[in-house]
Amino acid sequence: QKPIERHLPAMGWNSWNSFHCNEIDEKLIRDTADILVSSGLAAVGYTYLTIDDCWSSGRDPKTGDLVADPKKFPSGMASLGAHIHSRGLKFGIYSSAGTRTCNAPADTGSLGREAQDAKLWASWGVDYLKYDNCFNEGQYGTEEKSFERYKKMADALLATGRPIYYSLCNWGQDFPWKWASKIGNSWRTTGDIGPSWNTPSPYCKCTVAGCDAYGSVNCPIMNILDKNIGLEPYASPTLGWNDMDMLEVGNAGMTTAEQLSHFVLWAVMKSPLILGNDLRTMDKATRTILAAREIVAVNQDPLGVPARLVQDWGKRQQVFAGPLVDGHVVVLLNRDSVPAKITASFDKIGLTSTTTARVRDLWRRLDIGTATGSFTVDAVLPHSVIIVKLQV
Ligand code: GLA
Repeated sequence: QKPIERHLPAMGWNSWNSFHCNEIDEKLIRDTADILVSSGLAAVGYTYLTIDDCWSSGRDPKTGDLVADPKKFPSGMASLGAHIHSRGLKFGIYSSAGTRTCNAPADTGSLGREAQDAKLWASWGVDYLKYDNCFNEGQYGTEEKSFERYKKMADALLATGRPIYYSLCNWGQDFPWKWASKIGNSWRTTGDIGPSWNTPSPYCKCTVAGCDAYGSVNCPIMNILDKNIGLEPYASPTLGWNDMDMLEVGNAGMTTAEQLSHFVLWAVMKSPLILGNDLRTMDKATRTILAAREIVAVNQDPLGVPARLVQDWGKRQQVFAGPLVDGHVVVLLNRDSVPAKITASFDKIGLTSTTTARVRDLWRRLDIGTATGSFTVDAVLPHSVIIVKLQV
C-alpha cells in the first residue's frame, strides 16, 4: 500500500532549481504561494509548493525533532503550512533517506527516524514529501536494499493517517521504476537536471541501468529524455510516474524554443510538472509556456499513458506518440541545429495508413485541418517541437 493510490502526475513548484540553499526563507515561500495564485498558475494545476533542501538546521537536542532553521523560518513550519493552505495550495517538504540531507547540516536526514519525522510533518500539515538519497549508509546496491530503505518512510507516512504524496528521489539508482510503484507516487529516474539542451556533463553518471555515483548534477535535458525512453510501461495512474526531474523553464541556459521542447516532452512522457523558476521575476514567455493549457491537459489526461518514441532518424529527428482519452498526441522533435522536415506515419502511432484524422496544434491552440495516413511539417525549427492531437 502507498500513501496515495490512483492519481495523475503531480504539478507544483519546488525551490531547488533556482535557489538551491540560498535565499530560501518564509518570505520567499509565502510570496511564491501568492504568485502561484495571482499568476493563474495554480488554476492551471500547479498546486504542490515544496521547500527543498536547506530548510532544517538540525534536531532539537531534547525531543530529537527536526528543527526548521529559525533564521530562515522564524514563524515556524505549521504557520507557513497554514499560509500555503489558505491560498488553496498544498505543502511539500524535503528530507533524505540517509543520516543527513545532501546539503544541510548533520542529523537532518530521516533514516532511522522515519516515524518521528513523518508525524512531525503531518502535524505541520504537510501534503507531499520529496525523499532524497544522500548519506544513505551504503544501503543500496540491490533493488531489495533500496526498496526496504524507502519503504520505511512509506509506512511512516501511511501511519500518520494523512494523505501525503511520496516522491522518491534516488536518481534512478537500483531501478526504482521496478519497485517504487508499490510504495510511492513517483520516482526520479536520473541524476539532477541542469538548464542545458545537450552539453554533456561529466557529473551525469546515471543511466537507465542505474547510477554509479552519488551527486550527479547537470544532466542536459536531451540526456534525461534518452534515459527515460523505454520506461513508459512502468508508469500509469495506479503505478505512479517516472520523474524526469523539476523543470528548468524560465531559468537561464536554454533558448525559448528549447524550453518549450523541454516542457512538451516532460508533459507527454507524464513526468510530474514541478516548476523550478523564480516566480517573482517570471517573464511573459515563461508564463505562456507553463500555462499552455492544452499541453498540461495531455500531462493530466486521465488515461495516463506516457508517449513513446515511435520513429527515430539517428537521434536527429524523432517522433513521440501516445493515446489520450479522446485521440492521440504526437510530438515531432528536431534535435538538429538546422530546420528539418518530419513526417509522423499513422501506422506507427496506433492508426492506419488510410485513416483520416483531424489535427489540432496544442501549442498554438489551432485546428489545422485533416491528414490521411501521415502528418508532415516541412520545417521544424532547430531544437524545436510541434505538438498535435489527432482525432478520428
Ligand atoms: C539532490 C537532489 C536534488 C536536490 C538536492 C538538494 O541532488 O537530486 O533534486 O533535492 O539534492 O540538496
